[in-house]
Amino acid sequence: MPTLNDIRSTFLDYFARNGHEVVASSPLVPRNDPTLMFANSGMVQFKNLFTGVETRDYKRATTSQKCVRAGGKHNDLDNVGYTARHHTFFEMLGNFSFGDYFKEEAIPFAYELITRDFDIDRNRLYATVYHTDDEAFEIWKKVGIPEDRIIRIATSDNFWQMGPTGPCGPCTEIFYDHGDHIWGGPPGSPEEDGDRFIEIWNIVFMQNEQFEDGSMKALDMQSIDTGMGLERIGALLQGKHDNYDTDLMRSLIEASADVTSSDPDGPGNVHHRVIADHLRSTSFLLADGVMPSNEGRGYVLRRIMRRAMRHAHLLGAKDPVMHRLVPALVRQMGAAYPELGRAQALIEETLNLEETRFKTTLDRGLKLLDDELSGLDEGAPLSGEAAFKLYDTYGFPLDLTQDALREKGRSVDTDGFDAAMAEQKAKARAAWAGTGETKDAEIWFDLADTHGATDFLGYDTEVAEGQVLALVKDGAAVDALQPGEEGWMIVNQTPFYAESGGQVGDSGTYLKPEGNGVIADTQKMAGGLFAHKVTPEKTALAKGDPLELRVDHARRTNIRANHSATHLLHEALREALGDHVAQRGSLNAADRLRFDFSHAKALTLEELKQVERDVNAFIRQNAPVTTRIMTPDDAREMGAQALFGEKYGDEVRVVSMGRKSGSGKGSDGETYSIELCGGTHVRQTGDIGVFVTLGDSASSAGVRRIEALTGQAAFDYLSGQDHRLAQVATELKSQPADVPERVKALLDERKALQNEVAELRRELAMSGGSAGPGAEAEVVAGVPFVAQVLSGVTGKDLPPLIDAQKDKLGTAVILLIADTGGKAAVAAGVTPDMTDKVSAVDLVRAAVAELGGKGGGGRPDMAQGGGADASNAEAAIAAARRILEG
Ligand code: ALA
Repeated sequence: MPTLNDIRSTFLDYFARNGHEVVASSPLVPRNDPTLMFANSGMVQFKNLFTGVETRDYKRATTSQKCVRAGGKHNDLDNVGYTARHHTFFEMLGNFSFGDYFKEEAIPFAYELITRDFDIDRNRLYATVYHTDDEAFEIWKKVGIPEDRIIRIATSDNFWQMGPTGPCGPCTEIFYDHGDHIWGGPPGSPEEDGDRFIEIWNIVFMQNEQFEDGSMKALDMQSIDTGMGLERIGALLQGKHDNYDTDLMRSLIEASADVTSSDPDGPGNVHHRVIADHLRSTSFLLADGVMPSNEGRGYVLRRIMRRAMRHAHLLGAKDPVMHRLVPALVRQMGAAYPELGRAQALIEETLNLEETRFKTTLDRGLKLLDDELSGLDEGAPLSGEAAFKLYDTYGFPLDLTQDALREKGRSVDTDGFDAAMAEQKAKARAAWAGTGETKDAEIWFDLADTHGATDFLGYDTEVAEGQVLALVKDGAAVDALQPGEEGWMIVNQTPFYAESGGQVGDSGTYLKPEGNGVIADTQKMAGGLFAHKVTPEKTALAKGDPLELRVDHARRTNIRANHSATHLLHEALREALGDHVAQRGSLNAADRLRFDFSHAKALTLEELKQVERDVNAFIRQNAPVTTRIMTPDDAREMGAQALFGEKYGDEVRVVSMGRKSGSGKGSDGETYSIELCGGTHVRQTGDIGVFVTLGDSASSAGVRRIEALTGQAAFDYLSGQDHRLAQVATELKSQPADVPERVKALLDERKALQNEVAELRRELAMSGGSAGPGAEAEVVAGVPFVAQVLSGVTGKDLPPLIDAQKDKLGTAVILLIADTGGKAAVAAGVTPDMTDKVSAVDLVRAAVAELGGKGGGGRPDMAQGGGADASNAEAAIAAARRILEG
């Protein structure tokens, strides 16, 4: 009996033999389709090939595509576990032709594979065709299906559409008759909903494209898109009627029974089925980068996870079990989907965390549910308020409550639930204290209410498609922006990072067939909206436009490097300076980084060098940078650096990098840097390249600031310094390495020369060689008086000169004025035998007044002062003389 893995290979090999390129499954989060939540069929990754927007070097392809249907158009969540063929996750086998072959080949390909390679009994096959499709009818007849088993269907059942827009076309479906022991009728009959006739393959003749405005146009090319659920064909080929009885699903059901110590086929069977299915969707979603959250895709994931966890709870599991099933899944599917094995640790950890947290409220929530139900009339629905309380306080997604009620034959008043939800939103909004900034404008709340928070894809990709949900100009919503007009754009999903946590917003471009535009900045607005500051170039940008959004890769690369380097710098500072170092602010821009931290004094050269050395050592370690989602408490326990006083939600993103070894605190192998952070980072620390600080400065009291460069900017800076050094060395006729010593020697020499000049000036002044009335004393009022104006000396040279005059003359009153380039310094000296006649202080004060200064002071035998105007030196001397005379 072929396993599901065998069947997948048989399918792909068959089409490879027939000239098809075997293409890997695309990720579950569509990168090329803004209108879809998850890949829901094989054609999603080829959408643009059907419309001719994109071409590749193959025209035929075959895939086994991971699909999730748990939200949006094709939503199977409610029935999963209770029916034979509903899944949230399944694999779709398909073959595709892009304008190559059409109906004439697609139908024989399918027929041959089914009847020959799969050896299915041709007498049990039926085909349906779109009621007007005579061509397909004739081809089926030709390959060997009798006319009475080819059924024309007029409804949308035989017209396939991926979603509200996109390529589409009529289809033909192949059915298998499981036999008259099962109730049911062929397609189109009143009993078609029975389980006897099961669709196994859908072949779509892609020939139209559906547009947003409801119009449909013929495509230039005629193409083929097919889809065959691996689980269904597997059941058929394994002689089963229920997808959950196939080898792969069965092994997961047994694993579930194993970890819950229960009977796989007992009354708990439905729980095992739900768990097996949900294990697959949650694990694959986690492997493709979706994280549980309260918004968008993350919330769909959380709903599926919690639904599974309640079923584990119903099986009596006391401890988290979902993560213990992951190895069984990896054993089954890891070979076909290597991403599963690569993400195994992350999947296990996330499931464990989510289940541990949910368990704390699950019991109380279920008790509340029981209490509510016991007070209700037989068959009455649960009130919307109760369902909302379960959602809001106990973390019960609505569909989990519905699922729990289903077993009791009850439902929920969903209108009441929606009303309670709307009321809470209105309250939150009323409580919001706006700051008057653009970010808090009323308009963003309105838009957030209508559209929900923006889905950020930029951790994993820098290019993605998004659809324009709203345009805002001068604070008001507009339908379009004209070329050259700047405004804000909201899209449903974006790879652009919106400024937050010190990291600047992304810039880049948007592309659409009619004309592109520039995105200059991205900001986070109220309600979790990412607003892109946008200017269309040649053609207008309108609401509803699908766009390709492209982040400026080079700029983002630098921002990543700077942000990751900031984390390493933070830790290096703590190691060098102590645990009191805490982040006070940061900027992660494209051209540099800035980090403010608590520390009282300037860093020594040694400390700065150690920090640089450490950061560069961890860069060279080239350790992977990992991110995890966890509760704030768990993050703190793990040792994550968190901003004190910051309010965190019920989950945080934790970024870790580097392994300690040898020296440093902590034991070998311990993680070096662990921080709560929502920013974008390098993959490996080595991507940072080089790190160099531009020095440290004071930012505010008790806060230091380090600015630094990484990567090319750091290299350019260092190499620029080197080149300057080489130039200086040449001028000094020295080697770069000897420059510091040469400069030191030159400074010493300069100082010695300065001293020598000062000494010579003093000597010159004393010898009376400078301008002025000469060193001869005149006798004024019986006192020998010497007054001189000197140039080339400074104020502090005057007292020694006065002392020298005193020594020379024995008895004298001396006034010296230094002309220091327009300004004046003045000093007066009186020998001890004359101080009872006149005070040096009075003389200086009189002189200072003439020199345009104020005051002056000292002792009776020596006083000093200064003024702004040396040109009045003669008047100053005259004033001093008058004092003597007086
Ligand atoms: N895209 C088609 C389907 O999903 C084949 O059924």
